[in-house]
Amino acid sequence: MRVLLVGSGGREHAMAAAIARSPRLEALFIAPGNPGTAALGTNCAVRADDVAGLIALAQQERIDLVVPGPEAPLVAGLADACKAAGIACAGPTQAAAALEGSKTFTKEVCDAAGIPTARWERFDAAAPALDYVRRHGAPVVVKADGLAAGKGVVVAQSVAEAEQAITDMMTDGTLGEAGQSVVIEDCLVGDEVSLFAFCAGETAVLIGAAQDHKRIGDNDTGPNTGGMGAVSPPTGFDRAAQEAALDVLVRPMLREMARRGTPFTGIIFAGLMLTNDGPQLIEYNVRFGDPEAEALLIRLESDLLTALAAVAKGDLAGTDIRFSARSSISVIMAAKGYPGRPVTGGVIRNLAAAEALPGVHVFQAGTKRDDAGELVAAGGRVLAVCATGDTLAQARNRAYEAVGLIDWPDGVYRHDIGQRALAAQEKTGKE
Ligand code: AMP
Ligand code: GLY
Repeated sequence: MRVLLVGSGGREHAMAAAIARSPRLEALFIAPGNPGTAALGTNCAVRADDVAGLIALAQQERIDLVVPGPEAPLVAGLADACKAAGIACAGPTQAAAALEGSKTFTKEVCDAAGIPTARWERFDAAAPALDYVRRHGAPVVVKADGLAAGKGVVVAQSVAEAEQAITDMMTDGTLGEAGQSVVIEDCLVGDEVSLFAFCAGETAVLIGAAQDHKRIGDNDTGPNTGGMGAVSPPTGFDRAAQEAALDVLVRPMLREMARRGTPFTGIIFAGLMLTNDGPQLIEYNVRFGDPEAEALLIRLESDLLTALAAVAKGDLAGTDIRFSARSSISVIMAAKGYPGRPVTGGVIRNLAAAEALPGVHVFQAGTKRDDAGELVAAGGRVLAVCATGDTLAQARNRAYEAVGLIDWPDGVYRHDIGQRALAAQEKTGKE
């Protein structure tokens, strides 16, 4: 198969590595890719959200399967454009991608399908939103309705904080268009996990689960980010529990989407809270998570490309998903300043030494080669340093040893990725 993978993050580097292991792969192209993916296929200078450019590239390279990594091309209609051009695509249509593109849409689908989720209200103006949070009290969650790269959500611990978030988004327009409408939700309490499944119409096949660490700082402090590290599998959420969550949180959504005439085909990512009343949906994303994909895919033993081709064909019967019993972890190294303005341009050295450690994989995200051919930081999240181990403790030690070997003075990372999962294991005496 000739494959075009779309995106340029650590997730796409990890997907490229998994696709490159497939005996069915003939040629791999990545648009736009990064210096990490360049070692696994051919990077092509087409932006991930340039739908017309991607279709032209796919035609020129006689691509059999387009694999979207991030949400932007899907929200922009990549899957629809592939269909019109007769090219298979392992991602949802623009109509189905609204599950990620609009929080209101997701909430409406949840209500129609009876999916447990936090109580919510939508506001198109600041005054009634302010009034609502004053009556509701804290904690309360304020979300920009549109896409805001993981930065449009404020879990407010006080009414003043909620008021500030509403003023920032709706009056001061800090998130542009995305914040012109907000959804205000009750605050869910519990452990948060990310659940992934391949979907085709009304069928869902479990991929697996991981636990992200969203805040920039140790002990879940500071602003939300795209994700600073993940462990897989999460403690206390085994495959039986994952299957049960699919039944409650994903399959009814698939039936509702099909009923609306906009069936969902692709990878679904259900972000959920394990509350005392069972799993509740926080959000859907229409793609793999980043850095969850990195942690998941280094445990995957079955063929990712075969599964993606089955998704694109709309036939998941017989799709085989197998993971090693090992644990895995990803630790993000971000550039100082992230999630605000990152310090770019710093030279990154010693990746090879880190990658030589047993079980370690380093995936690249915001990196580029400078004119001298040196690897330099070029974005917010720069590296995903990952490891597998017989236990989570072993995986964790390996990943942090690798982080310690990487010579990049501008790099910052959390020191406590996986600590919560380890503490939970100690409490229950289970891995
Ligand atoms: P979202 O963009 O909807 O995934 O929200 C970003 C993050 O905010 C989530 O990953 C959660 O950590 C947190 N969050 C969102 N909604 C809620 C909620 N209703 N209750 C508690 N935390 C939430
Ligand atoms: N790690 C969360 C996300 O990919 O949205």
